[in-house]
Amino acid sequence: MTTKHQDSQPDSNLSIPAENERADRSFDAIADHFEKKVYGGLKGEIRLAVLRRDIFEYSAQMSEALGRPLRILDVGAGLAQIAIELAAQGHNVVINDISANMLEKAKASAEKIDKKLDITWYVCPYQALEEKLAQKETEKFDLIMSHALLEWLAEPAAVMDFFDKHLTDDGALSVCFYNPASFDYRNLIMGNFNLLDNTDYKADNKKSLTPNHPVAKEEVQSWLKAHDYQTVRSSGLRVFHDYAPLKRGGHNDPDAVIRMELRYSQLEPYKWLGRYLHILAKR
Ligand SMILES: C[S@@+](CC[C@H](N)C(=O)[O-])C[C@H]1O[C@@H](n2cnc3c(N)ncnc32)[C@H](O)[C@@H]1O
Repeated sequence: MTTKHQDSQPDSNLSIPAENERADRSFDAIADHFEKKVYGGLKGEIRLAVLRRDIFEYSAQMSEALGRPLRILDVGAGLAQIAIELAAQGHNVVINDISANMLEKAKASAEKIDKKLDITWYVCPYQALEEKLAQKETEKFDLIMSHALLEWLAEPAAVMDFFDKHLTDDGALSVCFYNPASFDYRNLIMGNFNLLDNTDYKADNKKSLTPNHPVAKEEVQSWLKAHDYQTVRSSGLRVFHDYAPLKRGGHNDPDAVIRMELRYSQLEPYKWLGRYLHILAKR
């Protein structure tokens, strides 16, 4: 693996929030928990299968049309599985996260790949990336990925300006975000009406992976429209798996679950019930 540049310390220029004030959420303290809960089983497999299908076909076409490897940026990359696979396909990849612990794990998996990878790592809030990218003269990207980041930001809409600045004119944006409708639907199925009646409900903030400030699909779509993006494709991630309390029939066959998730991830109306939604858009 080639590591071109490495910032070992996260920037500390985000002010310490007063209690109840919103702040970007670093996963430093929950890196192990996240790895195990989100990617330790079928849930993670489904998430990655849908993202791979949506992104890799498009990135291959784009790279062929341009006649060169793509320049790709992953913000809030976490374990960066998709970004590392794109690097293994020969693209130039920049991987960013505010959490050093998350990127340590990502680097460890990149090191296991027996290939020379072109990856540059930046441990810092994405808000501090502009300055670092300017020094490296790689300010524009053909593909920017932001997966499960919006819902952990204090000011999620602000990331759109960052995308505008760093995407090439015909570049593509891959945004995946937690779908608040799935919270309501799952609690309806589970009979947790008390949670739905309680408008002040907040997940236990220390360890919970349920974001307290999710962004609705309509809101993300309105930002994309306001910033002149057009949706190329949209999918739901885990459109039925998380809703099934009884693992019967095909639910006992992980490959079959992934096959069905892939199929229904693109079909109306099911895709809009995904725990996460993925939108691939271009300007
Ligand atoms: C839910 S994880 C998603 C990780 C990965 N993209 C994925 O889909 O598996 C959210 C990540 O965003 C990072 N994060 C939060 N605020 C950030 C910021 N301002 N800049 C960069 N990363 C941030 C967290 O540290 C965490 O690793």
